[in-house]
Amino acid sequence: MSTQATEFTVSLYLDYARRWFHGHSPLYVQWATGVANDPDLLALVAELPEPKRQPNLVFAAARYLGSGDGDFEDVRDFMLARWPEVAGTVLSHRTQTNEAGRCATLLPVLSMIAAQERRPLALIEVGPSAGLCLLPDLYSYSFDGAPPLGSGSPLLHCRTTGNPPLPTALPDIAWRAGVDLNPLDGTDPETVAWLRSLVWPGQTERLKQLDEALETLSALKSGAYGSTAGAPTLMTGDLNDRIRELVEAAPEGSVPVVFHSAVLMYLDEADRKRFAATVSAMDCRWISNEIFFVDTAGRSHESADQNSFTLALDGVPLARTGQHGAELHWLETIFGT
Ligand SMILES: C[S@@+](CC[C@H](N)C(=O)[O-])C[C@H]1O[C@@H](n2cnc3c(N)ncnc32)[C@H](O)[C@@H]1O
Repeated sequence: MSTQATEFTVSLYLDYARRWFHGHSPLYVQWATGVANDPDLLALVAELPEPKRQPNLVFAAARYLGSGDGDFEDVRDFMLARWPEVAGTVLSHRTQTNEAGRCATLLPVLSMIAAQERRPLALIEVGPSAGLCLLPDLYSYSFDGAPPLGSGSPLLHCRTTGNPPLPTALPDIAWRAGVDLNPLDGTDPETVAWLRSLVWPGQTERLKQLDEALETLSALKSGAYGSTAGAPTLMTGDLNDRIRELVEAAPEGSVPVVFHSAVLMYLDEADRKRFAATVSAMDCRWISNEIFFVDTAGRSHESADQNSFTLALDGVPLARTGQHGAELHWLETIFGT
């Protein structure tokens, strides 16, 4: 193990503890800090390929294998005893957290587009994981504690600031499609177990939301739902290679809406730029909800705020959002509505 690999791993785990886990999962703060100070675990984690060292991936693998959610000492003993299995799970799986809660922050922008275009929306998600963010019309929403909009499940709660244009109706969805390097089948029990392991310990509301969204997906796939758009069609591939054909395949009379959340961080700067250039040049609307906001010139800007994404429409930032969709901070003073 090189000193460089160890130093990288220490700073990665401390950064996750401080930036992403803090305020959301005290146990993951404890685990990540514990690993950063544990030479035995550091030596093992540092041997993983760099993109596979993410604490949320390593910890999800341990929990998937049955570590439980005990203190750091317990998970440390588990990981040291079963490292070959933990490493094997890390190598064969990805952080494909699918967060239906993000629909609460996407919904106001989807509704804005629906009002502007006056046509049903053809949703095209790049990096959809199991496709749970492709079902925004099938969930219900409560903004700032108001009575729910919609009657579907889960009910997603979202706190807002800055006077966002809150929707009064759910948008009409004509089509749901996506492309992912590894599309997941949200009705497969092993996949469901992995998706549940990706929800951080202590986040019971997120876990409930995930279970309910998976039930909605399952009902939609089995035909029990009366949605004209039907279940999502998920293609395998790289978003840059397949986005054009997806936009071109949108049903006539609909407005293609390309969107993505928590995906661009997996791309390098050149691929982010290529994607932004392709989407900007096509006849579609484009919603981005990411740590990396890519402007119309293709320049990437990393969110300066701890813990938040930038929500943008057609390359123009509109809001900052909580990483899992529970907060929407509208930038009305800059861009208005
Ligand atoms: C963290 S998950 C987010 C899933 C979903 N967008 C959400 O917000 O719940 C990131 C997803 O992006 C996919 N992904 C990463 N790079 C990609 C690429 N170059 N092309 C297509 N999908 C990609 C991953 O496989 C994964 O399913």
